Amino acid sequence: MQDQENEILAPAEALVYPPDYIVNEAYINREIYAKMYRDSIENPEGFWHGIAEKELHWFEKWKDTFEWNYPDYKWFVGGKINITYNCLDRHIIAGHFHKCAYIYTNEASTEQRITYGELFDKVCRFSNGLLSLGINPGDRVGIYMPLCIEQIVAILGCARIGAVHSVIYAGFSAKALKLRLDDAKARVLVASTYTKRRGKMVDLKAIADEATEGLECMEHIIIHQREEPMLLDELEIDFDQFIATQSPVCEAIPFDSEHPLFILYTSGTTGKPKGVVHATAGYNLFTHYTTKIVFDLKTDDIFWCTADTGWITGHSYIVYGPLSNGATTLIYEGAPDFPDPASWWAVIEKYRVTKFYTAPTAVRLFMKYGDEWPAKYDLSSLKIIGSVGEPINPEAWHWYDKNIGRNNCAVVDTWWQTETGGHMIVTLPSLPQKPGRAGLPFLGIEAIVVNRQGTPVPPHTVGMLIIKKPWPSAFRTCFGEPERFQKYWNEIEGVYFAGDLATMDEDGYIMILGRSDDVLNVSGHRIGTAEVESALVSHPSVAEAAVIGKPHDIKGQSIKAFVILKQGIEKTEDLKKHINHQVKHELGAIGVPDEIEFVDKLPKTRSGKIMRRVLKAKEMGTEAGDTSTLED
Ligand code: WT7
Repeated sequence: MQDQENEILAPAEALVYPPDYIVNEAYINREIYAKMYRDSIENPEGFWHGIAEKELHWFEKWKDTFEWNYPDYKWFVGGKINITYNCLDRHIIAGHFHKCAYIYTNEASTEQRITYGELFDKVCRFSNGLLSLGINPGDRVGIYMPLCIEQIVAILGCARIGAVHSVIYAGFSAKALKLRLDDAKARVLVASTYTKRRGKMVDLKAIADEATEGLECMEHIIIHQREEPMLLDELEIDFDQFIATQSPVCEAIPFDSEHPLFILYTSGTTGKPKGVVHATAGYNLFTHYTTKIVFDLKTDDIFWCTADTGWITGHSYIVYGPLSNGATTLIYEGAPDFPDPASWWAVIEKYRVTKFYTAPTAVRLFMKYGDEWPAKYDLSSLKIIGSVGEPINPEAWHWYDKNIGRNNCAVVDTWWQTETGGHMIVTLPSLPQKPGRAGLPFLGIEAIVVNRQGTPVPPHTVGMLIIKKPWPSAFRTCFGEPERFQKYWNEIEGVYFAGDLATMDEDGYIMILGRSDDVLNVSGHRIGTAEVESALVSHPSVAEAAVIGKPHDIKGQSIKAFVILKQGIEKTEDLKKHINHQVKHELGAIGVPDEIEFVDKLPKTRSGKIMRRVLKAKEMGTEAGDTSTLED
């Protein structure tokens, strides 16, 4: 951080204007945005009050729109709402029973469709099932499933009765799963038997079995069986049976606006993941509204967000945002380049996808495969193509615009975080884009770049990206660890510090430079260096370890580990493999280092903290900056 602060960066390149038809059909064009933004910042409460009245169903109107008891805040205080009513009931009442909610497909081109009516039926049955198990509002339910319709049923089935879901990405190991289930004190786990990636079976049931072994909080395990039913043991309930035996009638219970909706674990600077808690009404409103405005969502759109439901992008832009808008969403289970590097383009052609949302790491992967793969397909249905998860470099931006958007789409970058719930910085599709810059703050969001004292820095100067006031979908706490929540609002007194460094240009466009802390972004996945390090030292031969991120042309960052072995242990390539295997077991495949180097010493401060900055500088052949605190 110190090294980069106050550094002046060159201005980004020229503006790219969206096609006229995008501007003409947009809900919000350039002029409207300018005025709305001004109004929304002058009076955010009035702004969100108006949107909340217009866009959502409420069982009871709120009394105060916003209450800020620094650092805690509440939105729509006293209001009563049920997010599944907004996602399901109201569309059915409006006559959309037969509208397709999800089209599911996968690497084998299997297809399943579910209408709003059918989804409603399944969700109600699932909710009734949870009630029959004695699950109460506020109880936690873990979900360990791949991207499939049943997972969405489980998520909504929890929300309908106020149970707090905690989805754990199906790539996490048994240990990582157990840690999260135990931290959340989940009473129920819903798990699938397997997923397939690159045609290979991943045995999720075995992982769930290992994770729940001896887990005291766990009372019931619901198994979503994807093939021939297997023999389940006493504690286990078959998913299909579970819903088949229940009534399809389950009234939506009105909950307080602030009722916790879900916990989603994400990486921080310590080895322990943080349980980010979101509250119902503000999250519903913000994800609804950003989905509508950022993707300019219309009733005939086919929306495809390629994320996994195990991450916030899936929660907000596969499940809640699109459903609250009554959209038709495509979901795809599997890898992007299997069976061939054009699998995704074939899906876009086949289903006439209109709005597409993916990550720069995927774009760069396709870039590497070459232009000829997308060129084989008709992608003319596309109108808006989005990006999320990490900075999209101008080269990838232009490739995406040309080869996928065919120079006839709006390319929209979106910066946000697990903690923010929804899009914070985004250039709306009707506005001129600046490739390489995430763009402008969303309506109601006052995002600026400041120095450590909280003073705005001049244009093109590196500083900390902050948001001045809480917004409706700002996370409410870290589960069981309020001090970790408070840190976000204390780092710079009174404002939200996101942990990212950024610059702003003369037009207010923000460029994200990356994290200022020890958090890596590998293929758009957030990984704490401390998490990987603690997985490394769990190997019996490892004495100490330090991890850094290295620039990588597809993944954005790759993981390099420096490892000190215990006395007398021989440094072999084989041992590296074993150590990697251990990390996979502890954390899951996403945390496995790309490179391990055995060293005899690590650079440390006199107080014993590892100076990853020094390791990184050495690795990259750059200046290490201030090393006066270095011990040796
Ligand atoms: C971190 C949040 C919320 C989306 C998925 C990741 C980085 C996210 C962008 C972007 C540059 C981005 C930031 C942020 N990030 N989107 N468009 N441009 N950087 O969510 O796991 O909570 O990670 O991802 O560093 O802090 P997450």
